[in-house]
Amino acid sequence: MSHLTLRAEAPGCADSGVWLTCIACGERFPPFAEIRYTCDECDGLLEVRYADLPTWDAFEGTGVWRYAAALPFDTGVTLPEGDTPLHDVPRIEAALGIDRVRVKHEGMNPTGSFKDRGMTVGVRVARQVGVDRLACASTGNTSAALAAYGARAGIETLVLLPRGKVAAGKVAQASLHGARILEVDGNFDTCLDIVQDLARRGEVYLLNSLNPFRLEGQKTIGLEILEQFRDEEGVYPDRIVLPVGNAGNTAALYKCFRELQESGALAPEEVPALTGVQAAGAAPMVEAIEEGNEQTRRWEEVETRATAIRIGNPVNAPKALPGIRETGGTAVAVSEPAIVRAQRDLAESGVGVEPASACSLAGLRKLRERGTVGADEHVVCLTTGHLLKDAEAAVRAGTEPEPVPGTTGGVLEHLAD
Ligand code: F0G
Repeated sequence: MSHLTLRAEAPGCADSGVWLTCIACGERFPPFAEIRYTCDECDGLLEVRYADLPTWDAFEGTGVWRYAAALPFDTGVTLPEGDTPLHDVPRIEAALGIDRVRVKHEGMNPTGSFKDRGMTVGVRVARQVGVDRLACASTGNTSAALAAYGARAGIETLVLLPRGKVAAGKVAQASLHGARILEVDGNFDTCLDIVQDLARRGEVYLLNSLNPFRLEGQKTIGLEILEQFRDEEGVYPDRIVLPVGNAGNTAALYKCFRELQESGALAPEEVPALTGVQAAGAAPMVEAIEEGNEQTRRWEEVETRATAIRIGNPVNAPKALPGIRETGGTAVAVSEPAIVRAQRDLAESGVGVEPASACSLAGLRKLRERGTVGADEHVVCLTTGHLLKDAEAAVRAGTEPEPVPGTTGGVLEHLAD
């Protein structure tokens, strides 16, 4: 029996100016009348399109829903999310020899990662179409976010995780928020294959980034960066550097820039260069960019301490590769020691991130050393998840605890050594 019950669209939903378009063949579909994640005609990826695209003055309030004019709804299932800090990092700027580097810390969202921005919209859509079971495959953060937003909406939630490869903090979140956690004997890509099958069979509503509505929420990272940077620095950033796994965020940022350009809110020369970073042990996007390929090759074996982006088959590559190319960006792979170093450098500036997030800074350093990034650039590094997501990795990268006696004298003696 199918676990997905569809009900009629809620009355009063102003969805007439919203539709889905296949990015491969251009076929159009209604947004909420039926559930689909890919094109019926050619299986291409779907994108949300709007009759009206907003300019800057359409935005008011804070957080993700400040940008409601660029989203399919006015409000969502909210905790609330967005409105994350754009940190100054003067020591990092000096060390890299780059004019301006800011760090957009998405780890400061309610469940500690940028996934919350996607879920506030995605779970709102789930409510709209009236499903009774949500699911995702995840390297951890998506499952934590879906568990929290599913709980908030009162909808059953299923998460498929690669057994033994998810940081403890993320499993703890999914667990306490009450999701059913299926630990799959396989990597993330296997989990995603299975959950897509379940969705096709009508067993679950899929909330991976293959779901085009999730990327609408994540688009607000771009809107927020551009507004914050402009208000504080007087210009838009030249480049945004971000870690890449499934390439959903890269696709979302590219869509953000295209819509702003189309509405006239951003001039073509103001579009930041999208710069993706992967761990060398899981770098199919970097391979595709370097070899000039239209598609990524599926890597069966992937390994990195940055478990959040331990992904060999980035499903959003067809949306993200053109984004990197057309904005004049690039993609770069970084080593495991470089990831640890960047995690420490950010921590020394007070910014605590998980290993995958540190990839953005590690990649920026590598591109600066290569001369790809110039000294006069204005760069934003996106850090996607909080340090406490992966406490074990933080302890491995940080200072060693020192055992001391339980007396002041003993502590003083220890410090004097
Ligand atoms: N950084 C972190 C901390 C992540 O959790 C992810 C993805 C990414 C970067 C990459 O983002 O997939 O949009 O390119 N995590 C997913 C998950 C796969 O299941 O939590 P992307």
